Amino acid sequence: DDSFTSAMALTNSGVPQVPDRYVLPPSQRPALGSSLGTTETTLPVIDFSLLHQPSLRSRAIHEINIACKEFGFFQVINHGTPSSVVKDALDAATLFFDLPVEEKMLLVSANVHEPVRYGTSLNHSTDSVHYWRDFIKHYSHPLSKWIDMWPSNPPCYKDKVGKYSEATHVLHKQLIEAIAESLGLEKTYLQEEIEEGSQVMAVNCYPTCPEPEIALGMPPHSDFSSLTILLQSSQGLQIMDCNKNWVSVPYIEGALIVQLGDQVEVMSNGIYKSVIHRVTVNKDVKRLSFASLHSLPLHKKISPAPKLVNENNNAPAYGEFSFNDFLEYISSNDFIQQRFIDTI
Ligand code: SIN
Ligand code: FE2
Repeated sequence: DDSFTSAMALTNSGVPQVPDRYVLPPSQRPALGSSLGTTETTLPVIDFSLLHQPSLRSRAIHEINIACKEFGFFQVINHGTPSSVVKDALDAATLFFDLPVEEKMLLVSANVHEPVRYGTSLNHSTDSVHYWRDFIKHYSHPLSKWIDMWPSNPPCYKDKVGKYSEATHVLHKQLIEAIAESLGLEKTYLQEEIEEGSQVMAVNCYPTCPEPEIALGMPPHSDFSSLTILLQSSQGLQIMDCNKNWVSVPYIEGALIVQLGDQVEVMSNGIYKSVIHRVTVNKDVKRLSFASLHSLPLHKKISPAPKLVNENNNAPAYGEFSFNDFLEYISSNDFIQQRFIDTI
């Protein structure tokens, strides 16, 4: 595709301004510097090691319940993924994005069903406004089914990103258990489906940007997943709090970010909300992130947990839909743009 220009290539060429296609309408520009809104907000940090201690588990579950209700978001520390695994994955990603454009271009596809896909913005061929982001996305679970299709350059990529993907998959199962428990459901709720579910790893690179006040790395959106585990190399993620203020998520060394997705919102009958988030860019610091999206199987129809509907006499707040229905939907609509309009 001739019209493809990666954000990295623009940064490397030293452009003094972002090209017009990256310029957001004034109402959608990030108000950098005032991202905390008017009131101080303390964002939740959960010490995951408490979940493994019988006497402290219920306290941690309670904290997760509050975090999921108020923000649909929290950070986890002591999550069990070794820091060397995290560092190796970030190093592999750095090497990948530093490859010559011609090599990465071999993996470009506008088809959201492609199991391995390199791209820029969200979908460079259809986006009306472009986002200052390059990415490689690939299916990651079960690893043995997909790993051979992953980039073979840099040579360490499969091994390093594979180890991180596996660690993330283990963590996500523990998180889903804790989240089910925090809703008063069985720990094993949906366990079989979760075992058969998918994991998509989106590895993102946000190069330094000459005009971070008028561009974004990603527009406001929620994730279609059940939950997303995010690793960031520096600050840049913002979430929308319950007062609709944009709040910057602080960078905590060694922490991982947990974001609830649409599937948990539906499963919880709306008690928990899928967090709306966006990504700002930076003049001086290139940012990397790994977003691991964990979803129920493609054809599994998701609906509110019966216990949460009946016991509280609450009507189901959502109809049934599957991940597959969702993919059809985003292939035929400008879903992100729609969500954007809904939430501002
Ligand atoms: C995402 O929303 O998937 C990316 C988040 C980030 O880069 O922080
Ligand atoms: Fe996201």
